[in-house]
Amino acid sequence: MSKEDAWWRDAVIYQIYPRSFRDANGDGEGDLAGIIEGLPYVASLGVDAIWLSPIYRSPNNDGFYDVADPRDIDPLFGTLADAELLIKEAHECGLKVIFDIIPNHFSSAHVWFQAALAAEASSPERARFHFYDGKGENGELPPNNWNSLFTGSAWSRTDDGQYYLHLFDSSQPDLNWDNPEVHADFEKTLHFWLGRGIDGFRIDVSHGLVKENILVDHRDPDLLTKALRIDTKDVTAEQRAELLSDMPFFDRDGVHEIYRAWRKIFNGYKNRMTVGEAFVYPTSRLAHYVRPDELHQIFNFDFLLIEWNAEKIRESASRVISELSTVGAPPTWALNNHDSPRLVSRLGSVKKARALALLTAALPGSLYIYQGEELGLPDGDMPLSARRDPIALRSQGADLGRDGCRVPLPWDEHAENFGFTSGSPWLPQMAGYGDYAIASEVRDPESSLNFYKRTLKIRHDHPALGGEGSITFLDTKPGILGFTRVPGLIVFANTTDEQALIPIEAQSLLHQSGDGVSFAADLLTLPAHTTVWLQR
Ligand code: BGC
Repeated sequence: MSKEDAWWRDAVIYQIYPRSFRDANGDGEGDLAGIIEGLPYVASLGVDAIWLSPIYRSPNNDGFYDVADPRDIDPLFGTLADAELLIKEAHECGLKVIFDIIPNHFSSAHVWFQAALAAEASSPERARFHFYDGKGENGELPPNNWNSLFTGSAWSRTDDGQYYLHLFDSSQPDLNWDNPEVHADFEKTLHFWLGRGIDGFRIDVSHGLVKENILVDHRDPDLLTKALRIDTKDVTAEQRAELLSDMPFFDRDGVHEIYRAWRKIFNGYKNRMTVGEAFVYPTSRLAHYVRPDELHQIFNFDFLLIEWNAEKIRESASRVISELSTVGAPPTWALNNHDSPRLVSRLGSVKKARALALLTAALPGSLYIYQGEELGLPDGDMPLSARRDPIALRSQGADLGRDGCRVPLPWDEHAENFGFTSGSPWLPQMAGYGDYAIASEVRDPESSLNFYKRTLKIRHDHPALGGEGSITFLDTKPGILGFTRVPGLIVFANTTDEQALIPIEAQSLLHQSGDGVSFAADLLTLPAHTTVWLQR
């Protein structure tokens, strides 16, 4: 495989959350014209590709992950012509383009679901989804006891008394992948966008398509729901392992047939890729999704939550790298995304966030950066009345959901709404966001933005970085992580509160996440919470 064919194996991919990136038409919501305006900025970061969260026609009950027409653009974002222009302009800026695809469910506004509601039980229209009669004397109980991941039952009742399955919001009915019509429709969607020149797809809930034993109750649905929250603290590691390794609706073996068929479609185009979103246990099962005839990449969720702890980082990184190497797939690294807390807020420290970002950028494989991460942007906060996430709404604020990491980007500290929109932003921006505005960070040589740019530039130019070359972890003192990459790169990270003295012959300093790194008498002084890249 040539370097160009395999561009995705070590690519740096910038995730754009379109509603919050940049608004060109003043309606308070980001749009495709705004993304086009922002492309030179994205290209200036030194990334290889952009991944856009969904922009398809949708009633927007779940941030556009409830798709009413996967082959059309939502008017809020623009038109199909705008999408085609975006693909062209991104390519001209040297950026590949990845779209989201959402095969687990449609929106209840999709014509198929509307037709299913209008049709009878056991009709072909209902067979595209999971419709069942209820249990109990008058069918008053749902067909099983599964919970929605967004709280409440995973079943909603229709006017004629049947129930339909939705693992997420009631407006996101799950598709029935036992039905060949579902396969055919998604294959049409893949060709539709691949033919328009996109370079790949991020596959939403890629482990969820196949369900088994739908009419059987789960032994402990509430505990399972807790175990499925990626940041859960309510279940022990043993409980989680036990519950997640045998789920009726996630990670069923049948799902791999679907990706084998999709891979054949991708192979019919040049240099395209897929990345699956899958939350599976044990993590060794992630490798099944990236066998040579299935997907190209799979997200590794460990780093979304990883603690700033040398031993935990080493355990996770070495495990993921070795598990994926069994099938020849590159690892992927993401420190935050539109579903998880922002890095700086999660670690509670800019210093730690930079140190973790620098360490992660030196690992082999592909790196994902979530818009605003490069600015060191913290999560926003807002009252329940301003929140839009169905998780917050369905739980009435018991769970505040994911709006905090979706607050619109600040572009210019002096402009109205920090230059995001001339209208009223769909989520409130925080007063302090001006400190993180792109324009001000561009000017400040010490800004997080310039730190990320330097990091990506060195990662791009250095022969040991990027790529998938081997990594060797070093024996280090507790709290210190060390590894080498060939040729000639040594990385140390100090995750403790104390300065560390590391015996090592003087090396040249390539890059550092904070001040105060020095050498004297074959000792490296590494300040607390700092990562350093050294050249041997
Ligand atoms: C997406 C979420 C979305 C869910 C349902 C995911 O994993 O990343 O944002 O709410 O799928 O589509």
